[in-house]
Amino acid sequence: MSSYPALRMRRARSAPWMRAMLAEHRLHPSDFILPMFICDGQGCEEPIAALPGVSRWSVDRIGAKAKEAAALGIPCIALFPNTPPGLRTEDAREALNPDNLICRATKAVKDVCPEIGILTDVALDPYTAHGHDGITDGSGYVLNDETSKILTDQALTQARAGADIVAPSDMMDGRVAAIRGALEREGFVNTAIMAYAAKYASAFYGPFRDAVGSRGLLKGDKKTYQMDPANSDEAIREVALDLAEGADMVMVKPGLPYLDIVRRVAEEFRVPTFVYQVSGEYAMLEHAAAAGAGERDALILEMLLAFKRAGASGILTYHAMDAARLIAAA
Ligand code: PBG
Repeated sequence: MSSYPALRMRRARSAPWMRAMLAEHRLHPSDFILPMFICDGQGCEEPIAALPGVSRWSVDRIGAKAKEAAALGIPCIALFPNTPPGLRTEDAREALNPDNLICRATKAVKDVCPEIGILTDVALDPYTAHGHDGITDGSGYVLNDETSKILTDQALTQARAGADIVAPSDMMDGRVAAIRGALEREGFVNTAIMAYAAKYASAFYGPFRDAVGSRGLLKGDKKTYQMDPANSDEAIREVALDLAEGADMVMVKPGLPYLDIVRRVAEEFRVPTFVYQVSGEYAMLEHAAAAGAGERDALILEMLLAFKRAGASGILTYHAMDAARLIAAA
C-alpha cells in the first residue's frame, strides 16, 4: 500500500530555506587541511604544471600564503618540500637536517601565522635519490625497521621545528609506536600523530610526485608497502594497528575512489578520520572542468561534500582555499 499523496518527498526540497534546514551534511572551512609545496630560493612562486592552479612557494613567501588560508578559516596546512636534487641521497639524510626546507618553512609560518596548525609528512620520498619512502637494500626493496628508525628521527626533527601534527605517510610497520615513544621521551606530549593508516598504492599520486620532484627518480612502484586497491578488510586492520600504536587521527588515501573505505573506517572506529583528495583527483577535476565536462565550482563542492557524507571528519584538499571562498560566498 502506498502512502502517496500523504507522503511527498519533494516537499522537503520545495524551497532553498527548506533544503538548507534539512541538509544532513554541510561543508565548512574548518573541514579542510591545505597541502602546500615548498621550494628552495628567495621570492619564488613556481607553478606546478601537473597541478593547474597550485604553486610551490619559497620559505620567505609561505607565511603570507598560510595567513591567507587562516583568514579563510582553514585550521591547518600540510607542508611538502621539493628538495634540491643535490640533497637527495641513498640514506635521505637531508630529512634529518634541522635546517631543511620543511623545518625552515614550519618556523616561517609559525613566525607570521601562529594561529594555523602545521602538519608535516613523515616519509623519505622527497629526500631519497630513488624516490622511495624509505631506504632500500641493494635490490630496491624498502627496509622496514631501518626506515622506521630514520622516520622517528625525522618526526622529532619536525616536532623540534614546531610541527603540530606529524603524519607518517610511509606505510612501514611499527612506525607509529616508534614515533609516539620518541615524542613522549622528548617531551612533545602535545604533538599529534595523524597516521596515513589506509594508504593505497594508487595511480592517482602522479602530479604530487612532480610537485616534490620525485616522479622522474622513482624506481619501480610502492606496492610492497602501500596497500593493494583490491583490499578493504586490510584497511580495517591497518587502522586498528595504528590506533593501538598511538595514532590520534587516521587517514584514508586516496579519496573519491575509496569512499567505501572512508565509510567503513568512520563507522567501525569512531575516531577522527581524515581523507586525502589526492593530486590526481584534483587534476582530474581541473582538466574535466577546463574541457567543459562540468561546472568547476559545483564539481568541487559536490566532491568535497561526498567525503563528509561518507563520514570523514576532515579533508586534505588542494581545493581548500577555493572551497572556503565558495562556502563564504554561498
Ligand atoms: C609521500 C606522499 C605521497 C602523497 C602524500 N605523501 C606520494 C606517494 O606516496 O607516492 C600523495 C599526495 C597526492 O598525490 O596528492 N609518501
